[in-house]
Amino acid sequence: MWTRSIVILWLAGAVPLAAQSSPYGVGRPPTPEEIRALGAAIAPDGEGLPAGSGTVAAGREVFTAQCSRCHGPNGEGGVGATLVGGQGTLRSARPLKTVGSYWPYATTLWDYINRAMPFDQPGLLKPSEAYAAVAYILNMNGIIRQDQVIDATSLPKIVMLTTPAHLKTLFTSPVEVMHAGEANASAFGPIVGTRTHFVLEEESHLNRRRLLLPSFHGDRMHEYGEAMDEVTSQAVEAWPEGRPFPIHPELQQITLQVIIRTIFGLDDATSRDDQLRRQLIRLANVALASPLLLLRPLQWDLGPLSPWGKVARVVEEADRLLLGEIQRRREAQTQHGLSAQQCCRPEWQSRRHEASTAVH
Ligand code: HEC
Repeated sequence: MWTRSIVILWLAGAVPLAAQSSPYGVGRPPTPEEIRALGAAIAPDGEGLPAGSGTVAAGREVFTAQCSRCHGPNGEGGVGATLVGGQGTLRSARPLKTVGSYWPYATTLWDYINRAMPFDQPGLLKPSEAYAAVAYILNMNGIIRQDQVIDATSLPKIVMLTTPAHLKTLFTSPVEVMHAGEANASAFGPIVGTRTHFVLEEESHLNRRRLLLPSFHGDRMHEYGEAMDEVTSQAVEAWPEGRPFPIHPELQQITLQVIIRTIFGLDDATSRDDQLRRQLIRLANVALASPLLLLRPLQWDLGPLSPWGKVARVVEEADRLLLGEIQRRREAQTQHGLSAQQCCRPEWQSRRHEASTAVH
C-alpha cells in the first residue's frame, strides 16, 4: 500500500515539471509579454488598482452587453455562475456561492473580472468598465448603494463579511474607522431620530452610553432577570401542545415584552400603559420592520394609506404617547424633590433616547 502512495506522490510532484518542459510537445511557457498583458494580480488590499472609475448605471450597460448572455440579466445565472443572492445558505445542505454570499474581497472581484471575464474573451474590459461591472454586481447584492462610484480608492474600503476573521477585524477596529452609527442612522434615522447613542459616533456616543449604563448594572440586572423569567414562563404557558408552531415570532414577542417591562417599566394592568405597550409593539412590527427603511427614495408620505405614510403615522403616534409619558414621569419626579434640571439635562434631551433613559 505504502509503495503505491509513494508512486502517486512522485507522479503528483512530476506534473508541474512536465508542464514546464513540455515533453509531450503540447503548449509552451508564456512569454514575459504575455504575462504582462494579463495584468498584475490585485491583492485584497487593492494595491496596484489602476485609474478609472465606474458607476452602477454604467455597470448595468456593461453587464447587459457583455455578461448577461451567460449570467442572466440580473445575475441569476445561466451558462455562467449565479452572481446574486445565496446569503445565509452557506451552512445549509445546498449552499449557493455567489459574490453576495461568499466572495471575500471587493478588490479581488475587480481583479477576477478584469483578468477572466467575459469567459470567452478575457481581458476585453477597460479598467473603468471592470469597475462599473463590479459596482453593478455589488449593488445587485445590496452591498453598495445605487449612487456609489467605484474606483481605486473606494473599492478597497468595501467590507465583505464572509469569514469569522472578517468579523473579528470588524469588532476590533478603532471606533474612528468603523462608524456603525452612521450606518444605523442611514437606515433607522427616520424611526429613532438623530440623537440616540445608536446613531451617534465617538465622544457623543460615549456620553449617551454613560447615561444608559447605570441601568444595566448590579441589582438592576437581577430585577431584569426576574422579569425575563416571568415573561418567558407566561409565554410558554400559552404555547400550543402536540402540534408544531413557528417559534421565531414567539421569541420576538418575549424579547419585546421584556424590553417593554424592564426599560419602559410598563405595567399592562393599567389601560394607559397598555395603550403605550400596544403602540410600541406596532412601532417594532410596522415601523422598525419596514423594508422601506432601506430605500430612502421611496420614503414618500402620501397619506395614511401609502406605505411610508403608514410607517410615519405609527412613529408619530408612538412619539406622542412616549412624550406624554416622559412629561408625566418628569412631573412625578419633580414632586418627589428631584429638580427637572437634575433629572433631565437639556443636552440629553432627544426623542426616543429619553424613552430609554429618563423614562426608566
Ligand atoms: C461566455 C459566458 C460568460 C460570459 C459572457 C461572462 N461570464 Fe462570468 N462566468 C462564466 C463562467 C462559466 C463562470 C464560472 C467560471 C469558473 O468557475 O471557473 C463565470 C464566473 C464569473 C464570476 C465568478 C462567480 C463566482 O461566484 O465564482 C464572476 C464575478 C463573473 N463571472 C463576472 C462576469 C462579468 C462581470 C462578465 C461580463 C463582463 C462575465 N462574467 C461574462 C461565464 C461567462
